[in-house]
Amino acid sequence: MDKMRVGIIGGGLMGREAASAFGRWFVLENFPVQAELIAVCDLQDKLLDWFRHVPTVQLLTKDHKELLRSPNIDVVYVAVPHNLHEQMYLDVLAAGKDLLAEKPFGIDLKAAQTIRDAAARSGRFVRCSSEFPFLPPAQRVIQTVRFGKLGRILEIRSGFWHASDLDPNKPVNWKRQVKTCGEIGVMGDLGMHAVHVPFRLGWKPLRVYAQLQKVYTQRPDGKGGMATCDTWDNAMLHTEVRIGGGEVPMRLEMKRLAPGETNTWFIEVLGTDAGVRFSTKEPKTLWLFERGKEQIWQRIDLGHQMAFPTITGGIFEAGFPDCFLQMWAAYAAERAGRLGDRFGCVTPDEAVLSHQLFAAALESQLKKTAIALL
Ligand SMILES: NC(=O)c1ccc[n+]([C@@H]2O[C@H](COP(=O)([O-])OP(=O)(O)OC[C@H]3O[C@@H](n4cnc5c(N)ncnc54)[C@H](O)[C@@H]3O)[C@@H](O)[C@H]2O)c1
Repeated sequence: MDKMRVGIIGGGLMGREAASAFGRWFVLENFPVQAELIAVCDLQDKLLDWFRHVPTVQLLTKDHKELLRSPNIDVVYVAVPHNLHEQMYLDVLAAGKDLLAEKPFGIDLKAAQTIRDAAARSGRFVRCSSEFPFLPPAQRVIQTVRFGKLGRILEIRSGFWHASDLDPNKPVNWKRQVKTCGEIGVMGDLGMHAVHVPFRLGWKPLRVYAQLQKVYTQRPDGKGGMATCDTWDNAMLHTEVRIGGGEVPMRLEMKRLAPGETNTWFIEVLGTDAGVRFSTKEPKTLWLFERGKEQIWQRIDLGHQMAFPTITGGIFEAGFPDCFLQMWAAYAAERAGRLGDRFGCVTPDEAVLSHQLFAAALESQLKKTAIALL
């Protein structure tokens, strides 16, 4: 079995989630690659201490260049604030390592293009993170579209909603400030999740009309004062895509201020013969519509039917850690040339396309008009 020896730069929320995925890698059945976490870099002692509990870790450091000098690391996962993406990703490639980058793949379009071009020149295997499409009902949505069961597609809706920022007393963090999160704001945080499936299905926006909202402009700084909070909170991108010779509306929604929504990823595709819908709000439910005499949406309970089979019982529900592990399995399989016809992680070109869309959305917001993309 091949080994994939991983280093993590940024051991915060997502760095530790990745460690947990590698820690239960054995849940994958007959998987051709063994993942092992070897080294971690973060600036915070308390996080480095947490990683001491991971038995395979050999190096803990505050200097990412020290991690990159390790000869026994094949792949680096970088999960740091967006203003650090470009330099860190370029450093990973210059060190001759493969990369699983976190979204948004650079703070803006220029950074994303620079990373994509460096990745192409380096010949390294580079993909970007987006895990929700690996949930079983999301996979069924993709298959339903691919097998052409929908008839003529009428409309597409894809999005990701949070509500945690509704609380005006929530202290500011790097995700709420342009200098660290980027001018694209919520689109950088949640946008890749909304575009991964549509882009992979070939639905690339021809034009975009954006409605962007900034609601809270200040938040507690956590030290008794107030800090500027200058990123976009909510984004609704009204786009058109070309399908079968016609233009079809596709709405992409990314919201930090979505009342009632904890972490809701959803996709809906409606056609003349059938429709399909999934939301993590009902995590094991796939909704299917088939045209008949009466208007009936069928609700189907799905269990653990993963693209990469696991030992978990087929009737057991899947959740966030499961799709994150499946995303890593897709990365490892594709890197080893074993993905087959399964759904893969976001490519550098798709990441650049997402930034082209978000840059056009900023322009649309400014000019109050639709912006052409293709
Ligand atoms: N795929 C997803 O579902 C998902 C979810 C949340 C965040 N993200 C993305 O993951 C990335 C990180 O987000 P997070 O929520 O984990 O943030 P976080 O703030 O929890 O973690 C970031 C970590 O980076 C560390 N760091 C900062 N500068 C560093 C440096 N110079 N060297 C080493 N470490 C450094 C910080 O100490 C911190 O621990 C972002 O790109 C974000 O958009 C992805």
